[in-house]
Amino acid sequence: MDPNTPTEPALTPPPASGDLKPATLEIGVSKAPATEIHSDVQPVKRKIGDYSVIRELGRGGMGVVYLARQESLNRQVALKVIPAGPEASEAELKRFRTEAETAAALSHPNIVSIYEAGQANGVAYVAMEYVSGGTLHDQTYKNPLPPTEAALLVESLARAVQCAHEKGIIHRDIKPSNILLAPRAGPCVDRSGLPWLPKIADFGLAKRLDNPALTASNLVLGTPNYMSPEQAQGHNQRVGVSTDIYALGAVLYEALTGYPPFSGETSFEIIQHVVRTPPVRPSHLRTGIPQSLEAICLKALEKDPQKRFQSAKELADALAKTFQEKLPATVITPAPSDHASGCLPPLPPPQFKLPLLEGGYLPWQVGC
Ligand SMILES: Nc1ncnc2c1ncn2[C@@H]1O[C@H](COP(=O)(O)OP(=O)(O)OP(=O)(O)O)[C@@H](O)[C@H]1O
Ligand SMILES: [Mg+2]
Repeated sequence: MDPNTPTEPALTPPPASGDLKPATLEIGVSKAPATEIHSDVQPVKRKIGDYSVIRELGRGGMGVVYLARQESLNRQVALKVIPAGPEASEAELKRFRTEAETAAALSHPNIVSIYEAGQANGVAYVAMEYVSGGTLHDQTYKNPLPPTEAALLVESLARAVQCAHEKGIIHRDIKPSNILLAPRAGPCVDRSGLPWLPKIADFGLAKRLDNPALTASNLVLGTPNYMSPEQAQGHNQRVGVSTDIYALGAVLYEALTGYPPFSGETSFEIIQHVVRTPPVRPSHLRTGIPQSLEAICLKALEKDPQKRFQSAKELADALAKTFQEKLPATVITPAPSDHASGCLPPLPPPQFKLPLLEGGYLPWQVGC
C-alpha cells in the first residue's frame, strides 16, 4: 500500500483523559533522561562571554536555555547554549552561527528577536529576547482557547511566518513549545483580546534533520506530534514553506482542541499516524468549533503539501475571514501603554487616522 494513502482515522479522541504527553523523537543510540542529555553543558556556571547566567529557563533538543544578563548593555536575555564538544563539528557550529545571523535580521513583533550568536568558554550560544510568560503549549495543552481566539492567534503567527518566508527563512520546527508568550504591559486591546503577545522562537535555529553530525548522536531531534509527513519521513528536500504551514495547522489544532493532531505511545507510532492517518476532526473532540475554521485547520494539515495553503499569507487571510464579522468594534483601539512598551509599533501622530485594511485588520497585523 502506498504509505501516503490515508487509512481509517485510528485515533480515538486523543485523550480526553489521562496524561498524554507529546512523545519525543529521539534519534541515535541511547535514550538518555533529559537531565543527562546535556550533561556537558552543566559545568557552565556564571559567565559566558559578556553574559552572566542567572538561572536555567528550560531544556530542549539542542541545549539549555538560561536567563542571563548581558553586562555591556545591562539587559536581560535568554541565552541558548549549545555544547561545542565533539557532537558539533566546526562546520556545524559555523552553520549554526550563520543561521542565527540570518534569523537576527528578522524583525517582527510576533518573532523572538535574536541579538547575537557567538562562542565562548567552550560553548556556542545564541542571545535572544527574553520572553517571560511561558509557552503556548503550557497554556493550551488540555486547555483549548475559544475558537475565535485560536484563529486570531494563528492568524498573527501566520503573518509573522510569511514575513520570514519572504526573507527566505523557513522555521522547520514550529510547535506550541516554540511559541513564547509575552505578557501584555497593560490592558492591550488588540483584536485577539488575549492577555499575551505570542512570539515564535527559534527561527533559523531549528534542528537540521539532514545533518549527519546530529543524527549520529543521541540528541533529541524533535517532537513528531507536530511534524509534517514529509519531515517525519525524512524527505528533507521537500521541506519548505508548506512544512511551516502544516505546523501552523498543528498549532491551530492544539489551540482548538487542547491536543496535538497525532499522539501515540512511541515516536514510531506517532510518525505512522502523521504519515498515514487523517487527523480526528477538531469538532469531534470539542463542540462549538465553526465548520469553516475546522476546514482551514484540516487543509493546513493535509498530508500532501500541494493540497495545503500555498503560503502562510493565504492561511492568515483564510483565518481572518472566519471571524471578520464577529469582532466587537472596540477592539481596534490598542492601549497607548502597549505601544509605549514595545508590544506594538509606536502610535502614529494624533491627527493620523489608523487605516483599516481589507479584512478589518490593522497595518501591524499584516506582516513584514
Ligand atoms: N527566548 C526565550 N525566553 C524565555 N524562555 C525561553 C526562551 N527560549 C526558550 N525558553 C524556554 O526554554 C525552554 C527550552 O527551549 P528550547 O528551544 O531549548 O527547547 P524546546 O523549544 O522545548 O524544544 P526544541 O529544542 O525542540 O526547540 C522553552 O520551553 C522555554 O520554556
Ligand atoms: Mg525551542
